[in-house]
Amino acid sequence: MNAEKKNTRPNHVAIIMDGNGRWAEKRGLPRIAGHRAGVKALRKLIEFAVEINLNVITVYAFSRENWQRPEREVSLLMDLFMSSLQSEVQDLHKNNVKLKFIGEKSSFSKKLQESINNAEALTSSNTGLCLNVAVNYSGRWDILQACRSLINKTSTNLDLKDINEEDINKNLSLVGFNEPDLFIRTGGEQRISNYLLWQLAYTELYFTDTLWPDFDADQFKLAIEWFEGRQRRFGKTSEQVKKVVQ
Ligand code: FPP
Repeated sequence: MNAEKKNTRPNHVAIIMDGNGRWAEKRGLPRIAGHRAGVKALRKLIEFAVEINLNVITVYAFSRENWQRPEREVSLLMDLFMSSLQSEVQDLHKNNVKLKFIGEKSSFSKKLQESINNAEALTSSNTGLCLNVAVNYSGRWDILQACRSLINKTSTNLDLKDINEEDINKNLSLVGFNEPDLFIRTGGEQRISNYLLWQLAYTELYFTDTLWPDFDADQFKLAIEWFEGRQRRFGKTSEQVKKVVQ
């Protein structure tokens, strides 16, 4: 792709890893085989992200709506989260990756919650790639819990006009992270599916038909190149933005 460069590399990339089930079905395999292949694809992508010094990746591993899937798929997915965490965490740590899980973790088994907490604690001082994993997460839930926690902290005589966007930001799950610059959804659907609704306000949205298990470093490079060719205007005119860049 020969797009004229308008942006530097994204700082924060948000990803919906869609298409695992179809990848498996196309091969006559059970859906869980697609999710397993999805974990391998994620591992490779993280290796590549570490190699190119990307700062933040936030992946959607399990939405609040995903509980509605057949019980067996949900249970196998939980097993997969657990086994992937246990097998990958040391390598992630060696690679200086800092892991954070966003979402309502209390719905998971005690064992899984423990693994999540241990992985976060082990990697908490790492200074390389930040890998945020959204589990039992949805954008609406996040905004709602932010409002609840803000109201809970707010003194009763506060003037409502004094509440601003930064107050909401400070109570969202991704507090401390810049908003994603680039959003990638694999698997051919063109929707946001209740992901990071607040934070995606000015994110560049990239959709590809590639199914998640087939999304590799070359595909990722294509998405980054596409991003670098976008002009981000944040509500301004194209002329205004060009003047700032020159
Ligand atoms: C969507 O594909 C994928 C998921 C709901 C699960 C994604 C999870 C992983 C790749 C595992 C990540 C693991 C860790 C430890 C972070 P789909 O099932 O909706 O695919 P389909 O649209 O083809 O049916």
